[in-house]
Amino acid sequence: MVALDLRFAAPGVTEADWRALEPEVLTAQQQLFNGEGWAQGGSGWLHLPSATLRQGLDSLCTVADELRAQADAVVVVGVGGSSLGTQAALAWCKPAYYNQLPARERGGPELYFAGHSLSAAALRDLLRVLQGKRVGLLVVSKSGATTEPALAFRVLWSWLVTHVGQAEACRRTVVITDAATGALRRFATEHGCRSFAIPADVGGRYSVLTPVGLLPLAVAGVDVQQLLQGAADAESALAVPRLDDNPSCLYAAVRNALYRKGKCIELLAYYEPAAAGLAEWWKQLFGESEGKEGKGLFPAVAGYTADLHALGQYVQEGRRLLFETLLHIASPRSGLALPTVTGLSDGWDDLAGRSLGWVNELALLATEVAHWEGGVPCLRVTVPDQSERSLGQLFYFFELACALSGRLLGVNPFDQPGVEAYKRNLYALLGQRGREAERDRLWAMWAAAQG
Ligand code: PA5
Repeated sequence: MVALDLRFAAPGVTEADWRALEPEVLTAQQQLFNGEGWAQGGSGWLHLPSATLRQGLDSLCTVADELRAQADAVVVVGVGGSSLGTQAALAWCKPAYYNQLPARERGGPELYFAGHSLSAAALRDLLRVLQGKRVGLLVVSKSGATTEPALAFRVLWSWLVTHVGQAEACRRTVVITDAATGALRRFATEHGCRSFAIPADVGGRYSVLTPVGLLPLAVAGVDVQQLLQGAADAESALAVPRLDDNPSCLYAAVRNALYRKGKCIELLAYYEPAAAGLAEWWKQLFGESEGKEGKGLFPAVAGYTADLHALGQYVQEGRRLLFETLLHIASPRSGLALPTVTGLSDGWDDLAGRSLGWVNELALLATEVAHWEGGVPCLRVTVPDQSERSLGQLFYFFELACALSGRLLGVNPFDQPGVEAYKRNLYALLGQRGREAERDRLWAMWAAAQG
């Protein structure tokens, strides 16, 4: 199970500071579990792992198997919560360079991601890589209207139709969207594409354990049953209403205690590149859930040890406004012993035979102590290993902590009104019908700002 180690959390906060938040966090937890007050909308993820396991994954696995048989390469089209969890789990559970591995070792088709930027170059380069492959599309958008995936899907769909014809393109496309409404739902119905529904009460960033994440991951041969089992383990373990026995509640309390002491940036640092995607998922989960009404911790991520050579200086000696959460995988995926090399007098000969993982582990301790001595509170989140089950536990641990933490801040952790502002502007600038006045206002502002 996920463990939270607070031995280096001070300076910055004392045990008394986070203990003072115990009544608040436990009240928030009870409200969430009872579906009361603030927790009424958007908490559908809470019992999703156990409910999905009870229901079974047969239809999802059937479609995943069909897609695996139909395609050498599957493109997952989506952005934000409709993509980041899948990217996180793929990187965590599968070897690096997954797409470059021989098909037998991969255990599934190549998996590509699109629709998370508006870069023409990125999409063009992807089309080049897809050339000559049997391609499947998995388009994921709850609203069915988000600009980035909508435009990428248009390009990829047209490309697929040109290459294999409309009937075959329909057979190779799976739509994951709202159960009843939206352009993608209509598209799936009209074209007879296979489809899955995203539950209405599960927001994008909490949706990795719905078909949003489960289907593409099953296509890639990730053990989604174990992923859900891990989340279900956490679902029951983290229902406990006691701070000392509930690391999710404790994490929510400690980070809020730190925030109230002026630590307004949380830097999540990971030591295994396979966790980079998880960190990106975490960043979006917390950023979109908490940053509102002029409040919220700013979530930043760092890949150590590489970023110790980029951000390390700032963390050690810069402004004292951040704390670190170090993500520790107790038994990473593989060991690699350092070889003996003669004639390389670089001072590392004594490490011959030692595992590189052991060095990485010590690097974590070395940073933790250095940063702590430099005045940076360090929390350590440990998972046992890099399995699907551990990842499921981590997903749930962070989701619950995020919801509770948002509540302690006094914001709604399930909405994202601020994201709409740029979207509205873009729709107007792109000339969407009915937004002409807004478009003119934006161009007038642009002109006036130039003086
Ligand atoms: O967490 C969220 O709600 C967002 O990040 C959405 O997932 C993201 O904006 C994509 O939205 P949609 O799935 O509607 O295309």
